Amino acid sequence: MAKNKIRIEVEPIGKRLYLDRPANGLEALLEAGIGIKSVCGGKGTCGKCRIIVLDAADTAVSGQEKKVLLPEEISKGVRLACQQVFDRDLNIYIPASSLSEEQKLQVSGTGREVEPDPVCQKYWVEVSPATLEDVTPDFDRIAGLLEKNYKVKADNIDFKALSLLPQTLRDNGWKVTVSLRGTEIINVEGGNQAGHNYGVAIDLGTTKIAALLVDLSTGATLGSRGIMNPQISYGEDVMSRLNFALAGGDSLKKIQEVVTSGIDQAIGKLCQDHQIDRKQINEITLVANTAMHHLFLGLPVRQLSLSPFVSLTGQALSVKAWQLGINIAPGGYVYLLPPIAGFVGSDHLAMVLAADIDQLKGNIIGIDIGTNTEIALKTSSGITSVSTASGPAFEGAHIRYGMRAAPGAIERVAIDSATCQPSIQTIGDKEPSGICGSGILDCIAELRKANLIDTRGKFVQDSNCIFKDEQEGMQYLLSGKPGRDYVSIGQKDIVEIQLAKGAMRTGIDILLDNAQIDFTQIDKIIIAGAFGSYIDPKNVINIGMFPQVDLGKIVQVGNAAGVGAKQVLVSSKYRKKAENLAKKINYLELTTHPKFNEYFVNSLGFPEPEEIF
Ligand code: FES
Repeated sequence: MAKNKIRIEVEPIGKRLYLDRPANGLEALLEAGIGIKSVCGGKGTCGKCRIIVLDAADTAVSGQEKKVLLPEEISKGVRLACQQVFDRDLNIYIPASSLSEEQKLQVSGTGREVEPDPVCQKYWVEVSPATLEDVTPDFDRIAGLLEKNYKVKADNIDFKALSLLPQTLRDNGWKVTVSLRGTEIINVEGGNQAGHNYGVAIDLGTTKIAALLVDLSTGATLGSRGIMNPQISYGEDVMSRLNFALAGGDSLKKIQEVVTSGIDQAIGKLCQDHQIDRKQINEITLVANTAMHHLFLGLPVRQLSLSPFVSLTGQALSVKAWQLGINIAPGGYVYLLPPIAGFVGSDHLAMVLAADIDQLKGNIIGIDIGTNTEIALKTSSGITSVSTASGPAFEGAHIRYGMRAAPGAIERVAIDSATCQPSIQTIGDKEPSGICGSGILDCIAELRKANLIDTRGKFVQDSNCIFKDEQEGMQYLLSGKPGRDYVSIGQKDIVEIQLAKGAMRTGIDILLDNAQIDFTQIDKIIIAGAFGSYIDPKNVINIGMFPQVDLGKIVQVGNAAGVGAKQVLVSSKYRKKAENLAKKINYLELTTHPKFNEYFVNSLGFPEPEEIF
């Protein structure tokens, strides 16, 4: 099909373009619907359309590129898309910093679309009314018709659906739509509602909750909603929430109800926005870390909070939504994928499923960056996973000017090594009011690259770009003026990031040690999580979270856990696949590993200049 055409592989978006004839790089990418930034409209002056040509050996460099790009960038294959002609087959990589916000959202949550085959199906039936001659019970009448017309078996009915049944049948002239889950009737509605079969997939995170409203007949996502986890008022991290739940009295009930009612409201809002009757939601799937899973269900959590940190169950669960205070179809269920271990939850399983980690060839690392970062390593001997306490620093917490990714947050930072001055980009091009995770990561990587901090993360004192704050110590100024409104990164912030990235690097190193392979043998690194889709992978390497690696090996898949939750909502086949996969993932406890301390201490530093991109 693509014979004689020019083929351009675009990573990390995973798009392949075929060009009939040579074309300007920027135009070809925009033409293909890829939202690459082009602030100067292609004049080659703004430098926003940076791409990395992965096989750059014979890629020409224009005079304009020499003006805008640093020599080190050029030698690493960085070019300006607007100055390049795509005239031969190429592999290019578009850094997150060159993508528009809209494109970043599209990049997040990529995953295989699955053939709809939901556990809940709807059937339209016209039942013959009861008469003195035919006094067959209502349920038996429906079950008989389902068998006769659709060859499906119904052998029980939800109690709530049963109590509503007589009225529904008689008010609607005995013409009704039946929702069947396996062999259980979970809802009976008046009229033909067979085309209105909906579900909600939920990724319940420690900090955020993402909910997707899905049409179960087509598999299409109709809408999504993200809310903060309201349990945050009971503690920022998992341990403080568990401690709250263990405080006695009705504390477990309180912390459960706050999250179930938050989810119930989010579903209500989604239905309202899309004009859907919430009673037509037949199923919810939910993935979460193990503590959030237990707290959502109101299960005892003492065993989770004490060594050896054991999950109550390793099985998938189906719980009636009404028992959890969630209002959907009368007999509708919440289906929860199985947790893997105390600190590796079903969200990790969903990520492994959605990113196809078990199916990929070679040695694969899958990493889902969050308050707890779970990492999976797949080799020829199977999949092993660990959990690292990376903390919320990359979400802006514990960082002096940290904030979430909202308008006004500094999301990109570049530092001119010659003048040590920063260039910043804020979300929505607003006045800077703080710095979010991707900005913090950029800033620290650039500070190291410009040699403003040393390999131990200490500010190099003789720079005139560093100032001393009376209370907070050494600071690098990003915007404003010292003493007035300003945003800066200080020594304490750097330490927070060192601890976070050190935890992740330790997890990777111990997994590699356990599998007896080294990082050069890794074929692909999949970065998942909402934060993971906003970061610049080059800077992940420049702060030493990963050792230096070919950027073409890094793929950002966004909220893969949410994608996995949707896959098991839409497809019974994927549900089985996920349940089987759960049995194959081995859990490795990091903290008792004999080399944990050694690896952790070694992971805190920053790379030497020759290891920086
Ligand atoms: Fe501005 Fe390419 S669009 S440098």
